[in-house]
Amino acid sequence: MAQPVSKMKPFLTDVKTLRDRARQHLTDGAVTSTYQGDVDTTIEILQSVLATEIVCVLRYTMHAVAAAGISSEGVKAEFAEHAKEEAQHVNQVAERINQLGGKPNFNPAGLETRSASEYGKADNLVEMIKENLIAERIAIDHYRELIRYFGNDDPGTRTMLEGILIVEEEHANDMHDLLVAHEGHPMLEK
Ligand SMILES: [Fe+2]
Ligand SMILES: [Fe+2]
Repeated sequence: MAQPVSKMKPFLTDVKTLRDRARQHLTDGAVTSTYQGDVDTTIEILQSVLATEIVCVLRYTMHAVAAAGISSEGVKAEFAEHAKEEAQHVNQVAERINQLGGKPNFNPAGLETRSASEYGKADNLVEMIKENLIAERIAIDHYRELIRYFGNDDPGTRTMLEGILIVEEEHANDMHDLLVAHEGHPMLEK
């Protein structure tokens, strides 16, 4: 039975109710009755996050291979490391979509349209670094907004995005430092 809701504290369900409830609707997997988000909307949002991360893997991988010129070795290694971390994000987001009962969309058709960040078209090292910095800043803005959107309605998705956001902030910082090292400007042009 439901307990009276205290005015001061959030409602806590007793263990027996939690256990009973968990045994019902098993086909819903991780989506239990306390899930306060709209599952379909969450899946749709996460499909766009998934596309963003896939595009980031592709862009960094291409840059890691294509980067050339004086002192490009360190930069290539940095691009390759980021590509690996973006691939981890791809997996995390795909797993989350699956947990929520969705099917992760890996279809290459329409990938860049679903993604928030772009694949890019840089043809030199500094342009590559700039493109990556811009893509990271787009992801950071997007994920910060999503973290606020999910709030307490879906703490699982929010926490995952918080973990990803921290890595994207590190990526942006790395790209910023590389840009300073290669161009000498302290910040992006306004
Ligand atoms: Fe990422
Ligand atoms: Fe990133």
